[in-house]
Amino acid sequence: MTIKLPKDFFFGAAMSGPQTEGAWNVGGRLRSYWDMYSDQEINAFFNNVGSYVGNDMYHKYEEDIKLLKSLNFKSFRTSMQWTRLLDQDGKLNPEGAAWYHKLIDCANENGIDIFMNMYHFDMPEYLVKRGGWQNREVVEAYANFVKIAMEEFGDKVKYWFTFNEPIVEPEQQFLHGVWYPYQKDFKQSINVQYNITLAHCLAVANFRKLKAEGKLCEGAKIGMINCFAPPYTKENPTPEDLEAVRMTDGLHNRWWLDVVAHGHLPQDVLDTVENDWKVEINRRPGDEAILAQGKVDWLGFNYYQPTRVQAPDSKFDENGLPCISKPYIWPERKMNVYRGWEIYPKGIYDFGMKIKKECPDLPFFISENGMGVEGEEKYMDENGTVQDDYRIEFVRDHLEWIAKAIEDGANCLGYHYWGVIDNWSWCNAFKNRYGFVRVCLDDGYKRKEKKSASWIREVARTNEFE
Ligand code: BG6
Repeated sequence: MTIKLPKDFFFGAAMSGPQTEGAWNVGGRLRSYWDMYSDQEINAFFNNVGSYVGNDMYHKYEEDIKLLKSLNFKSFRTSMQWTRLLDQDGKLNPEGAAWYHKLIDCANENGIDIFMNMYHFDMPEYLVKRGGWQNREVVEAYANFVKIAMEEFGDKVKYWFTFNEPIVEPEQQFLHGVWYPYQKDFKQSINVQYNITLAHCLAVANFRKLKAEGKLCEGAKIGMINCFAPPYTKENPTPEDLEAVRMTDGLHNRWWLDVVAHGHLPQDVLDTVENDWKVEINRRPGDEAILAQGKVDWLGFNYYQPTRVQAPDSKFDENGLPCISKPYIWPERKMNVYRGWEIYPKGIYDFGMKIKKECPDLPFFISENGMGVEGEEKYMDENGTVQDDYRIEFVRDHLEWIAKAIEDGANCLGYHYWGVIDNWSWCNAFKNRYGFVRVCLDDGYKRKEKKSASWIREVARTNEFE
């Protein structure tokens, strides 16, 4: 059976600056949270590979852009590193800016739209030392960074995004405590989440102002990229299970959806956090007016796996902090055993329909989706080509559900695959390879297409697949 996507549906690549560029000490780049963390604790990283090399895109960007073009991709999302663009006084670093000019010009010359994301978990080290997102001054510093970037590149970048997955830092660093500073404290986590939300809103306000002044491209748009996951629970749930679903959805999904679509935070979530759980959010007079400016033009939806939750064992932990839910293992789940993530393509449909229902005026695109596999060498044929049929199946199954969502009225405009060219990833380093293109770490970071590259090339050319 042939599945057809709309004619103007676009395919593109999602990556990020800190995971690809490398060249960590070139051209006046400052050190980031990840460089600090790598120095401090290299064994927190898979195979002790820290943040320094990325996949060497700093030097290979021309080859990489041509590669994306050859795959028939129309767009490329990366992120601008705060550490590369600005100096420690928050002023433009001309050498850093020069490299981003080269990257953007190269993409434009090749007919690839840059989707420029302004933050991908990569706080400058000197700001981490001032408290990072816990400090309201950092919120202002971020808004300044975005403003300078838009002033510098506004005439050549049309599509801007404030954050990638803003829920990840609060959760990984302050709630689950799996990334430095390894805290498990809901109060810290919700306040970091809140400050990032304000930072997003101030950046959108800067975008709107520059746009009104005619300083941005014709048709320029601003968006936010979120990892959304539909929360499911067990069959025949108890009221407590449903409550766990409500608050998981509230903190992970609706928190952001309400800001970007409606310009405020979900009241039921605030009521639960502040009144029932007695956790204070450091809100200040005037914040509501800032939140009201957070509405975006479109939305990026990253989807990897669903969230399955049930009621927690107790409502509060030993420190009196709330427990929101505990994982529910669905007996029928199918796993990506390498990454430890469930594969559930229908989730992309369910959440797409949720966006349609809750934010009917907000167009979206799939901004990340992908399959990371450890040890892909074992799938290499005699020519060294990775025979990644599993990746083809993964993408095809997700595209099929996207096509169905579009058929049922979802305003989904395109699909960006995550990590088209293998890249470095946070504590997992090069453990899980996502690319349609392999990066040969022991051969000068050489690029080599996998089997899936030919498949996606044809899908992106025709907008249909079998
Ligand atoms: C996404 C992030 O959530 O997951 C990416 O935006 C990340 O930065 C990707 O690389 C895959 O994660 P991992 O840990 O499997 O590499």
